[in-house]
Amino acid sequence: MKTLRKIIFPTAGMGTRFLPATKATPKEMLTIVDRPLIQYGVEEALAAKMDQIIMITGRGKRAIEDHFDISAELEANLKQAGKSELYKEVSRVARMAEVIYVRQKEALGLGHAVLRADHWINDEPFAVSLADELIVGAKPAMQQLREVYEQTGHSVLGLMQVPEDQVSKYGIVDYVAEDNGLLRLTDMVEKPSLKDAPSHLAIVGRYVFTPRLMELLRDVKPGKGNEIQLTDAIALLAKEEPVYGVLLDGERFDAGNPAGFLVANAVLGMNHHLYGEEFKQILKAHLD
Ligand code: UTP
Repeated sequence: MKTLRKIIFPTAGMGTRFLPATKATPKEMLTIVDRPLIQYGVEEALAAKMDQIIMITGRGKRAIEDHFDISAELEANLKQAGKSELYKEVSRVARMAEVIYVRQKEALGLGHAVLRADHWINDEPFAVSLADELIVGAKPAMQQLREVYEQTGHSVLGLMQVPEDQVSKYGIVDYVAEDNGLLRLTDMVEKPSLKDAPSHLAIVGRYVFTPRLMELLRDVKPGKGNEIQLTDAIALLAKEEPVYGVLLDGERFDAGNPAGFLVANAVLGMNHHLYGEEFKQILKAHLD
């Protein structure tokens, strides 16, 4: 089995649910407490030993490249001002990963974004992570997927149970539970009505694929909204080879929309080692 080291972050979407905040700022650069969403995603990937990072960007996404780049002037200023903790953090972020940036010139869907990385995959397995879905927990979500990949050698999708009234917002899977406790996926339905949903298990923005997925993606025709859908390629893959699901341990925040984003900031803010106590007190004063 080939080692899993590559990970694709599609960040070229329009972020329309978050306008006007995302008019000039990439959605992935919106901040949860003290760092942008994309940094959470990259740190999760690195913790799971996925260190060959391919970021799919588009127009107006330069801030992402700058965030992971060295700012010599800023580092010199912080050092000179004796702000050693901030200096350490800023230089850590600039050096945490080598990133390849690939442009998606038109936002033609998640599948189209992933396909932009085709040239860099070289017949190796690869992960895909959607950074606006923030998943926090004791074990990084990507590590949980890695373990199932290493156990099976097959593709793995991150799943979470969603409440009944949320089922129609997600890609929902059907599955058989195998004797070894793994979930082998047998079907996927994009945004089903509750009565048509085969389960309440949703696909939540974390994937590991065998290289075959990329080949299949090349032949997927544009579907709904003229977009190339990643789920269409996954459905084709599942017809050819096993695709597993892993029920993720952790808490998930849909930070790509304002309500989920606010909840993420509130929960991570209250638990933050530096700001948590003060934040809770201020919040309590507002609620009283
Ligand atoms: P989303 O649908 O959540 O992102 O896509 P979006 O399109 O930016 O958001 P809305 O719906 O307009 O508010 C999931 C992920 O796929 C990326 C997005 O950046 C996001 O991280 N994406 C989506 C692309 O990179 N390219 C695309 O063409 C579409």
